[in-house]
This record gives sequence, C-alpha cells and structure tokens, in this order.
Amino acid sequence: MTFDLSKTKSIANTFIAELRDENIQKDSMRFRKNMERLGEFFAFEISKSLKFITKEVTTPLGISQCDVLETQPVLATILRAGLPLQQGLLNIFDKAECCFISAYRKVKKNGDFVIQMDYISTPDLDGRVLIMADPMLATGQSMVMCCKELMNRYKVAELHIVAAIASIEGIAHVKANLPKAKLWLGAIDEEMTSKAYIVPGLGDAGDLAYGEK
Ligand code: URA
Repeated sequence: MTFDLSKTKSIANTFIAELRDENIQKDSMRFRKNMERLGEFFAFEISKSLKFITKEVTTPLGISQCDVLETQPVLATILRAGLPLQQGLLNIFDKAECCFISAYRKVKKNGDFVIQMDYISTPDLDGRVLIMADPMLATGQSMVMCCKELMNRYKVAELHIVAAIASIEGIAHVKANLPKAKLWLGAIDEEMTSKAYIVPGLGDAGDLAYGEK
C-alpha cells in the first residue's frame, strides 16, 4: 500500500511546497515546523488504518461510547534529519514510545558510500505497530537497513514508513526488501543526483533543520 499525498489537494501540500522553497527554507524554524506539521498530518491519516476499541467515557452529564486507539504505535526515526517529522507524529500519537537510530552515509574515496549504523535505542517492538519516519527516501538503503535491523531483533506486527519526499528508486528498493511495509509519502520525485540527492527534492533535510555539518 502506498499513500501519495500529491494525488490529493489539502493544506498538507502547502507544507511540502514550503519545505521545498529555497527562500522559505532559510527560516530553519519554519522548515522544522512544516516537517512537524507534515508528521501530524500523516499521523492522522495512518490512524485511520489502526485498530480501535469502544470505550465508555463518563462526561459530567452522562456516559458516551467513544472510539479510541487500541494501542499507540512505536515511532522510530533516523538521526538527525528525521526528528521534526517524528515529533509531528508524536504530537498526535501522544502516548507513543519512541525509537532512535543513528545511521549516516559514509562516503568512500571513490565517491561511493556505505550506510554506517552506530546507535539504536528502542523499546520492545514484539507485536507492535512501528512507524518509521525519515524525511527523504532517496536510495532507500538506510531505511531498509534500519527497518531490517529492528525486524531481525523483534517480531514487528505492522510497519509503516513515512517520508516527505521519495524517489522512484527509493520506493522500488523499499518495496523489494520490505514488501509488507505501508508507505506514506508527501511527494514522489523522478530523479537523483550522482550523490543520491533527490531532484528537485528539497536539499539536505538535516542541514536545513539543524545547520550544515
Ligand atoms: N537526504 C537528504 O537530506 N536529501 C536528499 O535529497 C537525499 C537524502
């Protein structure tokens, strides 16, 4: 299942437009805020696919039968670019436990890169719904590596992947390696540079949120 936000028109498309806009990007607080708002939007959309139970709630005037989420998902992200997107998800799934993974591209002398994964902090994921947020699904290599690492350690019940912008190649890599994952994408771009940056994309999401490395 792939949800492609660009197929619909809502205020969330404006968040993507602002994330991409090099003039608006100069305001890093607004960049983080737009990424967070996108995370909130996706949390709302994903919630429609989760399990609900009916709960009796006592109001000051009586009893109401309310539909509430059975359990909250676990929210994972890849440091550091994924933090604002994860925060947006957490604003809505407000009792969720969180998982953090440090993974980055280690560029070799010939320009190729390998994904270096150093640190994982995660709650128990057995039987849990896992939402993995990373703003840019470029080659998809770090996304697949991180999800596989978690799924080797735990029996994850359901995997959702959230990205602001994805490349065609990244989507294909995820679908080939994580066929059961549900994809929630803000936009799909056709091209990538030789350094695996998405074109037109938005640039370096980590640098735009937190400053150049
Ligand atoms: N990471 C980014 O921040 N931007 C891209 O275009 C690709 C990977």
